[in-house]
Amino acid sequence: MSLKTRAVLAPLTRLRAHTTTRVPSALAATYYQQRAAPGTLLISEATYISPETVGTHTAPGVWSAEQVAGWKAVTDAVHSKGGYIYCQLWHIGRVAHTSFNEDPVVKGSGYIVCRSASDVTLPGKAQGTFTGASASNTKPIPFSLDDIARLRQDYVKAAKNAIEAGFDGVELHGAHGYLIDQFLNEDVNKRTDKYGGSAENRARLLDEVLGDLCAAVGNDRVAVRLSPHVNNPKTAFFGTTGADYENTYRIAYQTASKHKLAYLLVTEQRWAPAGDDAANFALHHLPCANAAKYNKYYTSGPIIGASGFTPVSAANAIADGTFDAVAFGRWYIANPDLPFRVLHGLPLNRYKRGTFYTPGAKGYTDYPTFERVCAQLGVKVTDYIAPANADAETKAAIEHKFDELVALSEGKLAYPLITVKALGIATTAPAAAAAAEAGKLTAKL
Ligand code: PHB
Repeated sequence: MSLKTRAVLAPLTRLRAHTTTRVPSALAATYYQQRAAPGTLLISEATYISPETVGTHTAPGVWSAEQVAGWKAVTDAVHSKGGYIYCQLWHIGRVAHTSFNEDPVVKGSGYIVCRSASDVTLPGKAQGTFTGASASNTKPIPFSLDDIARLRQDYVKAAKNAIEAGFDGVELHGAHGYLIDQFLNEDVNKRTDKYGGSAENRARLLDEVLGDLCAAVGNDRVAVRLSPHVNNPKTAFFGTTGADYENTYRIAYQTASKHKLAYLLVTEQRWAPAGDDAANFALHHLPCANAAKYNKYYTSGPIIGASGFTPVSAANAIADGTFDAVAFGRWYIANPDLPFRVLHGLPLNRYKRGTFYTPGAKGYTDYPTFERVCAQLGVKVTDYIAPANADAETKAAIEHKFDELVALSEGKLAYPLITVKALGIATTAPAAAAAAEAGKLTAKL
């Protein structure tokens, strides 16, 4: 895989798969295709590896032939534009409420949901239940050694299915308090066998699954996501606390590094969980603490950073060597041509949070490209693109035109524009220049 941009589509739950079959919808092909361009890397939404992990409605799976066929339409659409797409393999463990045993894809499948390293219940209310009623989280069933052997096979089957469906690779979801992360953290993993106790033992499942995936599809088609975090119940992902966290994530990074993967995707803990954008924007100013602490333990390939990046802060993180590439979520949802806009520092469509997880095309496939915005506003795209050798005066004139375009978009467009500068994070002129550079680099991933 040879990328032409370091702006990557982050894995993003969009909840638009078929309710009973968990097949991605036809709209998903359009959605991913819109975001593809030559040399872009897209990572799919988190995708269930088996019925055992189902814990939300309308998230897709990759265990059945029907789902594989659904994904094939997606990967074909992405490849037709010269892009790459990885499939994120998801097992949510104890985050699934036990009521999902009634879900049609689970019932009669032989699988039981709400499983974890140990029988430690996730505190608080469930993120969802089968009926939609509010309920507390339920006590997970610990995996026996036989269960783990079967679980490893489920990951392998899902990875092979993903490759059959045309994905360029698979990304093991080892982050955010889901199953692999539940094994990693000692407040959730109370096992006394070889999967519990020391950080090495808690990372054993991560190690084994990565080894299995590499053996099944090749290490150059396997990636992993990790999300180191401090030991604070308020900010730990789904209650995955543990006093030994620094050691835990050092070992996790070293374990991942051993497998010589396509990439490591890491989450910087710079977002507020409940969708409070004002709070989020404040957090985005925080330095990349995880990168500073753990990057040195992952030495075998590129590291992609994520969480709260704007085109400018991403360019800075790449320019100063913090990350090799940056994955964008919300800005890529709202800007199907995000790498192009990053390259030229163009204004961005504003996102609408209210349609992140709602069914249908609205807020999914109806965000326009910059070209379309220009057509709607009756202006010419080329007037907003600085020539490669533009002097400071020309650049300043174009920045001014951005402001005028934003003003023109207010009240006229469903998704009004915002300048990159207005996002207010590290907006110095040299940084803006680096933003343009970031898109031009060829990243060998
Ligand atoms: C979600 O569906 O809310 C979700 C999925 C995967 C993540 C984080 C959040 O890594």
